[in-house]
Amino acid sequence: MAKFTSLPRPTEMAHRLLRERLKPGDQAIDATVGNGHDTLFLAEQVGPEGHVYGFDVQESAIEKTRQRTAGLTNITLRCLSHELLDESVSDPVSAITFNLGYLPGGDKSITTKPETTLVALRNSVKILKEGGLLTIVAYIGHEGGLGESNTIANWASSLDQSVFSVVRYEFTNQCNTPPFLIAVEKRQLL
Ligand SMILES: C[S@@+](CC[C@H](N)C(=O)[O-])C[C@H]1O[C@@H](n2cnc3c(N)ncnc32)[C@H](O)[C@@H]1O
Repeated sequence: MAKFTSLPRPTEMAHRLLRERLKPGDQAIDATVGNGHDTLFLAEQVGPEGHVYGFDVQESAIEKTRQRTAGLTNITLRCLSHELLDESVSDPVSAITFNLGYLPGGDKSITTKPETTLVALRNSVKILKEGGLLTIVAYIGHEGGLGESNTIANWASSLDQSVFSVVRYEFTNQCNTPPFLIAVEKRQLL
């Protein structure tokens, strides 16, 4: 069977950027823990001296994440909407990740919403440290996804370029409205 090279998907690209940025001892936030893949990934990057705070509105997501990360002591999980993430973390954080939409394998009617996502993103950039990175993977296909994606994209492109650098990564020739990644770096003077 023929094999093809493949460009990273938006979720993989988010991990690449986060891996480059995070180091042992850092603090990071998973704003939508879902099934716990991203929380586990962040916890591995920051190591036992670092810490990851994870949020989700569904107890089932918190439980799945707890199971996936069992044995790790550097994670705090909260069954709480992510607009409140800035109240849970005292120091500036090195990375924050959002993977929007619904819980795969769960109730598809429970999704992230533009109004609350926007508040969470505004609060996120406040607590991001200089040189820190925010990643957002947005999905267009589900109900409400297009509105949320547009809201996020507009917010990100309006960020002050003297403080933030913003990039967007997506497959532009795929049908079925593929997801896209937005990465926001809080710029640091070198
Ligand atoms: C695509 S899933 C996340 C996947 C996850 N990052 C992983 O690695 O498996 C989106 C999650 O966002 C959660 N969510 C929806 N609204 C939320 C909110 N206001 N605050 C925090 N999480 C929310 C959903 O419950 C769902 O579990």
